[in-house]
Amino acid sequence: MKPSPIFLIGFMGAGKTTLGRALEARLPGWRYIDLDDEVERHAGMSVAKIFSVHGEGTFRKMEREALDEAARNESPVIIGCGGGTPCFFDNMDFMNSTGVTVLLEARSSTLLRRLLEAQAQRPKLNGFSPAEVEKFISDSLSERAAWYSKAARRFPSDRLETPAEIEVSCRLFIRKFINPNE
Ligand code: S3P
Repeated sequence: MKPSPIFLIGFMGAGKTTLGRALEARLPGWRYIDLDDEVERHAGMSVAKIFSVHGEGTFRKMEREALDEAARNESPVIIGCGGGTPCFFDNMDFMNSTGVTVLLEARSSTLLRRLLEAQAQRPKLNGFSPAEVEKFISDSLSERAAWYSKAARRFPSDRLETPAEIEVSCRLFIRKFINPNE
């Protein structure tokens, strides 16, 4: 029987894309689908451009369409959501009824460091000073807690900085969520 989709959720910088891509490389037959990449492919423009040209509302509709399509994929899939995906429409209930949601949890200091390194790709952080990014993280984590807390499972994601850490995290993830009997 085909395994149910695994949805990686969590804040920007939690490591969804890093972990998802590394898992795909280690799991024959599985595919990693990144919702931001799918939205960009369909729209023919970056997420940042979609936000600035069409606004967040349009982005959220496109994100939901990408979510529906990814969940219908014929392969076993790991789906990397955007940080905001669980917080719009009935996305969280949809994911919980279709597959297994796994919340990636990293410390705020880890999120801050990672987001300052890759701020330009995130329209929500546009023009923020480091102190403002820090405040945005703590405010948004409180706002989003109601949705994130509906995750079926949780996984610590601070250790994704080096190839060795990624290897250890993947092994742990696979043992917990993919092959619990091995
Ligand atoms: C967003 C997170 C981003 C992307 C968009 C909005 C958010 O994805 O979907 O910029 O609202 O948290 P990542 O979590 O992959 O950075």
